[in-house]
Amino acid sequence: MSTSFSLHPITEDDIPALAEIDRLSFANDRHTLLKAAHPTRPYDHAAGTPEMIKYRLSLPTTRVEMTKAVDDQTGDILGYGGWGKRLDLHPQSSSTTTEETKTENGEDESSKPPPQVVAQDYVKTESPHLDALEQLEEMTSAHLADYQGRIMPPGTRAMYLVGLSVHPDHQGRGVGRALIKHGTDRADAERVFCWVHSSDDAAPMYRKCGFEVNDTLEIDLDHWASQLDIKPPIGDEKWGTYTFRYMIREPQPVERR
Ligand SMILES: CC(C)(COP(=O)(O)OP(=O)(O)OC[C@H]1O[C@@H](n2cnc3c(N)ncnc32)[C@H](O)[C@@H]1OP(=O)(O)O)[C@@H](O)C(=O)NCCC(=O)NCCS
Repeated sequence: MSTSFSLHPITEDDIPALAEIDRLSFANDRHTLLKAAHPTRPYDHAAGTPEMIKYRLSLPTTRVEMTKAVDDQTGDILGYGGWGKRLDLHPQSSSTTTEETKTENGEDESSKPPPQVVAQDYVKTESPHLDALEQLEEMTSAHLADYQGRIMPPGTRAMYLVGLSVHPDHQGRGVGRALIKHGTDRADAERVFCWVHSSDDAAPMYRKCGFEVNDTLEIDLDHWASQLDIKPPIGDEKWGTYTFRYMIREPQPVERR
């Protein structure tokens, strides 16, 4: 295995490989696993990847930049990430329908009402027909929308990660760090902060890249699983707690070269 890789813009031809990387890299993510264990409508994490990437590629690169890491020897895609950018906003701009208001499912969060309650026992009263996992989905999406509304009110200049996945066979060789640095270097040059909605496992890596926890959403997965009688994965007694962390990195001085 060669050790060098380089970063390149993503194209639509990359989509099948990127969907496979998403599928493999989230295969052990407990929140994803619980949603995939839905008794009648199992969630397929990679199924939404093609549409989401096409959508992001349709946006100008001044708003979203999608980047892949490619092994210099084999040409294989090792991982990919996306950076949302709000860099040229005028203070009076009122547009909130930006890339980051899309959820993983491509829904426009800005058209949804703000959440009334954001808590473990959240029940969306407007949608009593939703089952437990659909309510969980609504709750986490509403929490994210609420956070991004607070952290990036209209007129805020900032950058934010809109996805990061590294193929499990190539984790631990600096691919994630390089894809993050690609964005944080730009953010430092622009003197803007960056934020990310971190998966449970990825938080230590973001810490190493200069991010700090700003807010959290703790989910008692067993609480939600029990309502649909979903048993934990074989060999486990419990689903356990899953923590989404909202992490921020303040801009750092750019070294003179
Ligand atoms: C999180 C992820 C992107 C990290 O990618 P990676 O290429 O393995 O990360 P790197 O090799 O660049 O690691 C950078 C640093 O973070 C550390 N690190 C990476 N993953 C870590 C983890 N799970 N726990 C603790 N430290 C971790 C590395 O040890 C390294 O530290 P070092 O530079 O001091 O040696 C990858 O594990 C992944 O795709 N995970 C599943 C999908 C996911 O959760 N994505 C994040 C969505 S918000």
